[in-house]
Amino acid sequence: MAFNLETFKTNLLNKKSPDEILQTAKDANLKKTLNAFDLIMLGIGAVIGTGIFTIIGVAAAGGPESLGAGPALVVSMVIAMLACLFSALCYSEFASMIPVAGSSYTYTYATMGEFMAWMIGWVLMLEYAIGNITVASAWSGYFFEFLRGFSHILPSWLVNPPIYLINDYRTAVSIYTDMGLDPGVEIPRLFGFIPLAINIPAILLVIIITMLLVRGIKESTRTATVMVFIKLAVIFMFIIAGAFYVKPENWTPFAPNGFHGIISGAFIIFFAYIGFDAISTAAEETKNPQRNLPIGLIGTLIICTIVYVLTALVLCGMVPIDKINVLAPISAAMSETGNNWIAGFISVGALAGLTSVLLVYQLGTTRILYAMSRDGFLPKILQDIHKKYQTPHIITWVSGLIVVIGALFMDLNVSAELCDFGTFASFTVVCIAVLILRKTDPERKRPFKVPFVPLFPILGILFCGGLMIYSLFTLGTSAILFPLWVLIGIIIYFGYCYKNIRKIEKENN
Ligand code: ALA
Repeated sequence: MAFNLETFKTNLLNKKSPDEILQTAKDANLKKTLNAFDLIMLGIGAVIGTGIFTIIGVAAAGGPESLGAGPALVVSMVIAMLACLFSALCYSEFASMIPVAGSSYTYTYATMGEFMAWMIGWVLMLEYAIGNITVASAWSGYFFEFLRGFSHILPSWLVNPPIYLINDYRTAVSIYTDMGLDPGVEIPRLFGFIPLAINIPAILLVIIITMLLVRGIKESTRTATVMVFIKLAVIFMFIIAGAFYVKPENWTPFAPNGFHGIISGAFIIFFAYIGFDAISTAAEETKNPQRNLPIGLIGTLIICTIVYVLTALVLCGMVPIDKINVLAPISAAMSETGNNWIAGFISVGALAGLTSVLLVYQLGTTRILYAMSRDGFLPKILQDIHKKYQTPHIITWVSGLIVVIGALFMDLNVSAELCDFGTFASFTVVCIAVLILRKTDPERKRPFKVPFVPLFPILGILFCGGLMIYSLFTLGTSAILFPLWVLIGIIIYFGYCYKNIRKIEKENN
């Protein structure tokens, strides 16, 4: 068949109408079981985690590649929250209008066409699957911190296993180097040349979560609810107990690195807010989505912001800023003030928090891949629904495998930054998409409407796009990997997806 530029362009911009999307969803067999409360639990389950338990330290005190905000982190948090708020409103408009699996991927398909839809789905894998590498690695770190608390009763091989069995290769190399040891000697080699450094606890956790998700979403959200309560209880315990140790002189200087510190802090602490959009990926399984989705999204964001600002105020007020630049800043601040048992409780809460984040992210990954496979971007076999549990079991295992393989190669920081990039990109596109659909389909029924259009979506674009561009210029490894990821996505689209969709179209005609 001769190449026709016009047909090619039409195909790339080929949009899926919201009605068509809704019809496809009706034909699918996912159970509708979630209500607004379940969604808020799912949201908090996804949002409160590594960001507040670990990354808050770097955001306030600064890291190797970034300036710290100091106590002005509360301002950074409000900036990050505003970026999320405008995007959350845009998400709500779409999620209540097109309540199907797939999140911003689906919304892009309805507004910007096939090519952009694929690219957003591809970039969303950074937010969900790659983000989970960060969470699983942080979980593994907290797990050993927790075990060390019982070092007097547990065997030493369990409390202090070899570093190469509880870290990815890059992290293991840096730990051995810091210890003054030669990683080439310490890390064993498979067949004499493949270095063997695996984060075994992180991988086991991902496998267990995958098995849970295959069994069914209701069971999984129930588990998430228990964990949400545990982590909230622990954070409130920190806020209340810590408030007694706040010394107002620790709040000065308020912004040691000025404006740049605050913006850099906003970029980094943004990670702590990522996840509320995971709620919209469960839209197809939600009862009365027109009402429940907006409540779930905005409710989650408000609760999390209150918790974060209070945590940051107490943390920065308790100890001098240089004391919190550690892996477990919240428990470290408690230990510093002599409250070791509270610090121990906090480790348990952190573990619960990270587990629930992982659960929701894996769920999000499967639902997005499911929608992409349904549209022909990925092989059809992935849509197979389990006869007994009614869950997309093959795709759930594929998603688990992506995280397991990624965890073999990527460290916590790089995966966190890549996750940020993916999320900034998808938030920006959702805000643009709202503006487009208001123009191209103004009559469509919108059970929830973003107020002050076009101002609010434009503010969302400015906040998210601005933070993304800022970080492209200020970061190292991830600022190279992100464009590379986009390039690989383009190659896959033209190498597989484009042809596969045309083949399906031909079969259907
Ligand atoms: N917001 C999620 C967390 O902090 C990604 O772990």
